[in-house]
Parts: sequence; structure tokens; C-alpha cells
Amino acid sequence: MQTIRRLAELREAVARFRAEGASVALVPTMGALHAGHMALIEAARRPGQRVVASIFVNPRQFGANEDLSRYPRREGADARMLAEAGCDLLWAPEVEEMYPDGFATTVSVSGVSEGLDGAARPGHFDGVATVVAKLFGQVRPDQAFFGEKDFQQLAVVRRMVVDLDLGIEVVGVPTQRDDDGLALSSRNIYLDEGERARAVALPRALGEAARAIERGNDPQVALAEARTALIAAGFDVDYLALADAETLSLDPDSSRPRRLLAAARIGSTRLIDNLAIGQG
Ligand code: PAJ
Repeated sequence: MQTIRRLAELREAVARFRAEGASVALVPTMGALHAGHMALIEAARRPGQRVVASIFVNPRQFGANEDLSRYPRREGADARMLAEAGCDLLWAPEVEEMYPDGFATTVSVSGVSEGLDGAARPGHFDGVATVVAKLFGQVRPDQAFFGEKDFQQLAVVRRMVVDLDLGIEVVGVPTQRDDDGLALSSRNIYLDEGERARAVALPRALGEAARAIERGNDPQVALAEARTALIAAGFDVDYLALADAETLSLDPDSSRPRRLLAAARIGSTRLIDNLAIGQG
């Protein structure tokens, strides 16, 4: 597997894939790869398709008080994992290659990016949409793979692709979890042993609320019980909400697919998770 840092070389490599008659899949990441990312690579591996993974810790999607400087960086180990998983090319540009002097464009997706994590992290989804639009323009993939773990991000990217007529098939991949149910995340390494043990309350509370809502219980009661369980486990709850699975409207119509989403902090670590309601 080749690692490429210059856009001109990326274009040549992708053109070679195309000349061989292959289609191209893109898996965007910020590195510090784990089995959740590897599930995206696995899903992207299809006959006649070449897989490009990107690693770019995107400064534009981190808030002033967020963990940009301490975000884990270990490209050597990441590259070995990607090669072993059958990834064909690693696109790992420097910040100057991604955002050269004079860079002046922001992609902003209204509506779907405004509530939930968008409200808790102002500017975050502008940063995500801008870098994903750039990655799409750089690689020009046929398909792009994103995890349901970051459900709002997936919804924002889907909206952007439709609105900008990008003609890329966006594929959502189910959340990969540890044995006890905690969603895999690069940020889990920040949890100490006690926090890690208590963190399981997040998927448990979501699971119980999802089942209660599916049984027909009042969603507000189910959400209140989940909040109580999270607080009892030592979480500070950022949000816990039932939303429309496509628009993320917080006033969802129960005849449409819905999603239960949460963000909560344990110690200094912020965790997010979400679950489908029914087929949502
Ligand atoms: P990152 O957090 O590295 O995640 C890269 C991709 O892996 C995302 O699509 C994310 O949803 C997926 N992922 C992470 N944990 C997962 C899990 N447990 N199960 C399934 N998929 C999982 O998300 C980003 O990077 C960035 O915002 C990015 C899209 C690369 C733009 O900078």
C-alpha cells in the first residue's frame, strides 16, 4: 500500500486505478485506527473496486477548547493496519496541502447540522463538511464509507452530496462495539479504568430507552429514565434525544425512521452513541 502526501500524486494514482477499469471507494478518517475504522475498509472492499483511506486530523472541525493538540497520532501503526486490511492507497496530506495559503471556502449544511452535536460544538460540522467536500474533490470516489457511530455526521454528508449533486454513493456502516457494548472510539483511550467500567452505562441506557420506545412507551419518560441512569453512572449529559433519522428533527414523526442519540461526558472525555428505533 502506497502512502501519498501530494495532491498531484494522488490524482495520478487514482487515474491509474481508473485506467485499470476499477471503481474507487473512499474511507475518510483522522487516524488512530481501531476495529470500527477497519469495518469501513472491509465494507469498501468490493470486487473491481480500489480502496483509498485518508488520514487527516482536520483542524477546522475542532473547537478552541477541544482536543486537537492531544488527538492521538500514530500513522505508522495505522498504515500497517490499513495494508493488512487490504486498503490500496493511503492519502495523508499535511495541513498546508489541504489548506494552502489563501484558502477561503467553507461548506455549511444548514438544518441537519444545527442541533445535537452541532449545537454543542459550534462550527464543527462546517469543518467536517468542508474537509469531506475537499476529500471528495481530491479523490473523486464512486462510493464513500462513513460509520453510523457519528450519525449526525453521516446525515450531514448525505445532505451535502444530494445538495451539491456530487454523485457519490454514501454508505453508512453499523457501529462496531466492544464486548460490553461500548462503541469503539479513538477517544476511549482517554478513559481511566473506573471511567471505562462506568462508560458501559451509555449503550445500556440507550438500549433500554430504545426498547421502551419500541414497546410503545412515552418517549419523554424513556428519555428521562435514560438520563437518570447516565447521571447515576457519573455522566454529565450533553444531550439525549429522539430524532428523525434523516433530517434529525427533534420533533420526529413516529411513522418515519427515528434515531435515539446521546452525547455525555465522563471525566474529561466526551462520548457519543446512537441507536435505531425499529428500522430507523
Ligand atoms: P474519525 O473519527 O477518524 O472516524 C472516521 C470514520 O470512522 C467515521 O466515518 C466514523 O463514523 C467511523 N467510525 C468511528 N468509530 C466507529 C465505530 N465504532 N463503528 C463504526 N464506524 C466508526 O469522523 C471522522 O474521523 C472525521 O470527522 C472525518 C469524517 C474523517 C472528517 O474529518
